[in-house]
Amino acid sequence: MTQLVFDDRLASQLETLYRTRDVLRRRRLVRQALAGSAGKRILDVGCGPGFYVAELLEEVGPTGSVVGVDASPQTLALARRRTEGHDNVALYQADATDLPVPDASFDAALSVQVLEYVADVDAALAELRRALRPGGRLVIWDIDWSTVSWHSADPARMRRVLRAWDGHLADPCLPRTLAPRLRAAGFADVRAEGHSFASIEHTPDAYGAAIIPLVQEYVAGRDGVSADEAAAWAAEQAELGERGAFFFACVQFCFTAMAS
Ligand SMILES: C[S@@+](CC[C@H](N)C(=O)[O-])C[C@H]1O[C@@H](n2cnc3c(N)ncnc32)[C@H](O)[C@@H]1O
Repeated sequence: MTQLVFDDRLASQLETLYRTRDVLRRRRLVRQALAGSAGKRILDVGCGPGFYVAELLEEVGPTGSVVGVDASPQTLALARRRTEGHDNVALYQADATDLPVPDASFDAALSVQVLEYVADVDAALAELRRALRPGGRLVIWDIDWSTVSWHSADPARMRRVLRAWDGHLADPCLPRTLAPRLRAAGFADVRAEGHSFASIEHTPDAYGAAIIPLVQEYVAGRDGVSADEAAAWAAEQAELGERGAFFFACVQFCFTAMAS
């Protein structure tokens, strides 16, 4: 199974998706959980197009600093553009399992919708623990894709589409196993909160509707879903939206922990 590739096309799709209402809500929740403040040194693993990096630079001010790491040069290019003019930011192309940062050099770290793509999550958690100072705060956000409840008049087709979509990442149900793995990696005070992202509207601002083009593109030609079937699935969602019958819900999990 081939995971999503964060190339130029997907980077520009993320640029749009990450300006939508539901993703703005997610960023607010993450930043609340991170509790950044003036002077803090913050690490963003899998920073993507750099929305968090830019917002956190405002939060930490000139006496703090933010480092973003991402495996994709295409998303990093967007992050560079977004943070131009700041001298307290650094962006590195690297893997989450091999961070190019010194030990104990951060007060806080975040990784939002990244670990679900990483094959060796335990190695990534060990790196996050190494990078944080003792007492440093960690925020991890991932989706349990098995919580998706998505209406269709053709439930068998919906199941096929969602099964194919599961292949877009390394672990579609990562939140289920994250708590003990965080403790094993040297984190204490592990907590989790589930946030539901639900919509009865097929609008670009709703997470479920906003990801339809990504899902359609990814599943077409995979796992027995043809391009025509993927297009018919997406068209049905638009049609359900037009007659007020759209329904999507999923649970996204915010884990917080302290480096011990
Ligand atoms: C869904 S995007 C999330 C971006 C950002 N965290 C946000 O929420 O705005 C996932 C990002 O993780 C990055 N990524 C995936 N696997 C990675 C890995 N093994 N190491 C570093 N970055 C990775 C991708 O390149 C992509 O930019």
